[in-house]
Amino acid sequence: MMKILLMTSMHPLREFWQLDPDCVYLNHGSFGPSPIPVQQARERWSERLERQPMKFFCGDMEEELERTAQVLGRFLGTQPDRIVLLDNATFAMNVVASSVNLKADDEVLLTDHEYGAVKNIWQAKCREAGAKLTTAVLPFPPDEEGTVRAIEAAITPKTKLIVISHVTSATACILPVKAVCQVARRHNVPVCVDGPHAIAMLDVNLNDLGCDYYCASCHKWLCAPFGSGFLWVHSKHQSSIRCPIVSWGGSIAGRAASWKDRTNWLGTRDPAPLLAITDAIQFFTPERLTAYRTHAHQMVSKVRSALLEIPGSGVFCTPKESDYVSMVAVELPQTKGWTPGYHGHPDVLQTTLRDEHQIELLMGSWNGRRFMRISAHLYTTEDQINKLIAAVRRHL
Ligand SMILES: Cc1ncc(COP(=O)(O)O)c(C=O)c1O
Repeated sequence: MMKILLMTSMHPLREFWQLDPDCVYLNHGSFGPSPIPVQQARERWSERLERQPMKFFCGDMEEELERTAQVLGRFLGTQPDRIVLLDNATFAMNVVASSVNLKADDEVLLTDHEYGAVKNIWQAKCREAGAKLTTAVLPFPPDEEGTVRAIEAAITPKTKLIVISHVTSATACILPVKAVCQVARRHNVPVCVDGPHAIAMLDVNLNDLGCDYYCASCHKWLCAPFGSGFLWVHSKHQSSIRCPIVSWGGSIAGRAASWKDRTNWLGTRDPAPLLAITDAIQFFTPERLTAYRTHAHQMVSKVRSALLEIPGSGVFCTPKESDYVSMVAVELPQTKGWTPGYHGHPDVLQTTLRDEHQIELLMGSWNGRRFMRISAHLYTTEDQINKLIAAVRRHL
């Protein structure tokens, strides 16, 4: 019995992380720290580069990036020649925006759950092209049937692209992207999935999903080093891929021309975080992947239940425990003097938790509702969860 209690409250794999013991870190959803073996792998790549820079940049690097794409492709059920490695999902989305041919009056359709920076990217692109950004308002919570119906209803003959999160940021809900892709295909509209939260959190099979583009970061739930992500592009769109950063546009190592040439060499930079994606995938054996999902789910479910007891709080987008994995958002009461928090101007409770309790998490407002988003991973302990619950009860 003792052993079982210990196992549920503190996972043995926790020892692989080096987080500050004085901080309760509950924001893996924004910035996911790497376990020690992944950090060491990144350092080994940087050391190799430092020892022989010319050989590495002009000789080995492209082949090593290809090898990483192979490992990532196997993990995500797709061919490596559909994947290009990039710093993050933001970069990947900018590449898609540079590649899609938009004309005046065309429309790009987003949902009302999309990430703020992604909205900015498409707003800028639409402004430049004289096109229009349109929004599908999803049912709340966004069940599969209602989501697909809302998106289909928002498609017009002018819709040139649908952009949709696989797992949303603020509302932390899993959207039925495969069903959306099926409907979009019937209307002949390509789909770009914004997927940084889905990698490792969900079993993702990119070929099976039916999308046209998939943008992701690996420095969230997969715990690859910060500055690691990718863009997946269906073969039919690869020849139109353009990069917002213009560089040589060809293989530095003299390899055969490829659609990846525009993004592989972005000027001189350290590719170590990208190459260590392999090590993050190796760290997450199927058993560890299951352990992460199970443990983190227990931790966030405990917080969710406790927060829901606070008068004025409520479920946000995930009415059932099966609606989320390791990240959950809960609606909180709008206490006296509350003003909506946003990027750079956090909610007053988020600041109080950080300053008075050394608890880091994300709060914000979405469609006028105040929410707290809690993330957990293998390093999260039940003591930390209890500390958060006690602190929130004290201040609300
Ligand atoms: C849904 C979603 N899309 C895109 C991003 C951007 O990811 P990155 O900062 O790694 O580029 C985030 C970051 O939190 C996100 O939650």
